[in-house]
Amino acid sequence: MSGAYTHRPVLLEEAIQGLAIRPDGVYVDGTLGRGGHSEAIVRGLTAGGRLLCIDRDSQALEEGRARLAPWAGQITFLHGNFGDLAALLDGAGVERVDGMLFDLGVSSPQLDDPARGFSYQADAPLDMRMDQGETLTAWTVVNQWPRQELRRVLAQYGEERYAAAIAAAIERARAAGPIETTGALVEIIRGALPAAALREKQHPAKRSFQGIRIAVNDELTAISRMLQAPFPG
Ligand SMILES: C[S@@+](CC[C@H](N)C(=O)[O-])C[C@H]1O[C@@H](n2cnc3c(N)ncnc32)[C@H](O)[C@@H]1O
Repeated sequence: MSGAYTHRPVLLEEAIQGLAIRPDGVYVDGTLGRGGHSEAIVRGLTAGGRLLCIDRDSQALEEGRARLAPWAGQITFLHGNFGDLAALLDGAGVERVDGMLFDLGVSSPQLDDPARGFSYQADAPLDMRMDQGETLTAWTVVNQWPRQELRRVLAQYGEERYAAAIAAAIERARAAGPIETTGALVEIIRGALPAAALREKQHPAKRSFQGIRIAVNDELTAISRMLQAPFPG
């Protein structure tokens, strides 16, 4: 395989073992990302097997299509939210599946591209959308959501114990003008944290960025929508 694909997917062996792939079975990768899990699944299929690869990020689908081109005949790529799984599978004419895999979170290409605005390590516009066709961005959450909502997102999704102080600091800062970049947000978060929190090993903005990312992408709603819908199989 090309050097571009040397990145090791999370828990690859365990995930593939857990799927106990039937060579002629039908499988779903609900979070294609850079396609590492999908490649391992499709390698376990014969020509009679089928894999459906879903991602809400059209860039991921484009790259996945290129990476998985040798198995194109067995794969269907679907742009969408796995929260709509039942409808996506219906649209693809799939009535039953033998196994599904979901590798939740941000992909390395999303994190590594500063322009996507997911990373607290690079200065970029506040975006954080996994699906760039969606309208809600981190800019809106940070600049327009009420302080109490911000506090909830930081506490509930980011598990940030200083959520109240950070939300208050964001509200103060944006009163002087919009917060435009991830770098500006990191500085506001730093300024709101006590010295002890700044000495922690993990980056001081890690929890807040996680909370805002989950709010922007509605990740928890997608999971519960998917779990409530009847699965084929
Ligand atoms: C951690 S990465 C997956 C990595 C992948 N397993 C691999 O081997 O490279 C997660 C991917 O899931 C996608 N994603 C997250 N939430 C989603 C959702 N609700 N519906 C569809 N795709 C989603 C993201 O865009 C991202 O590309």
